[in-house]
Amino acid sequence: MVDRERRSPEDRLLAPDEWRRLRAARLEALADAPDVLLPGRPPESTWSEQRWRLSWRAARWAVAETGDETVGLARLSWTETGAYIESVWTRRDHRQRGVASAMVRRLITEHPADRGEIFVWVAQPNDAAMRLYTSLGFRSTKVTQWLAALNRVEEQLRFNGGHPRD
Ligand SMILES: CC(C)(COP(=O)(O)OP(=O)(O)OC[C@H]1O[C@@H](n2cnc3c(N)ncnc32)[C@H](O)[C@@H]1OP(=O)(O)O)[C@@H](O)C(=O)NCCC(=O)NCCS
Repeated sequence: MVDRERRSPEDRLLAPDEWRRLRAARLEALADAPDVLLPGRPPESTWSEQRWRLSWRAARWAVAETGDETVGLARLSWTETGAYIESVWTRRDHRQRGVASAMVRRLITEHPADRGEIFVWVAQPNDAAMRLYTSLGFRSTKVTQWLAALNRVEEQLRFNGGHPRD
């Protein structure tokens, strides 16, 4: 039996041809953390291959893997209102070992320095996510909004550029 404890996940960017791997990980994430992760519209469970491939348009997906197992997922997307980190998730049995930090760091390095700040919205309360982003160098913008889909307030954080903290 493989000793999962001894294997360190490795992070990398996913390619659109790997949309099935993305679908499996994203559906697992949504089922695991429905209280803090916002599903797509329409829900991802109904998406076609073409729709999954579209999710790479103006975006990058990072994963963390141990061999064939995907244990983490994160996305950076560029929109008209700015660049956003979203859909960040680590499988429960791999949490608090730097998996999400490594994926978000990788995505930040994909963001061109001249394209401005990177934002993330965090549905509150979420101590683990707040700690993740603040330890990488994100800071609160003090902007909050009501997130009806999750019945929670979400808070916006901002990364001002430069290298994420180690
Ligand atoms: C939030 C989440 C992605 C963190 O993933 P992770 O792989 O455990 O994060 P890391 O191991 O990289 O930890 C990053 C930092 O947060 C801290 N942290 C992580 N989980 C924590 C927890 N439950 N309580 C306190 N601190 C925590 C770590 O100690 C680390 O701090 P440090 O850099 O100062 O040492 C994970 O808990 C998760 O998937 N939660 C459900 C989905 C979610 O909330 N996504 C975020 C949406 S904005």
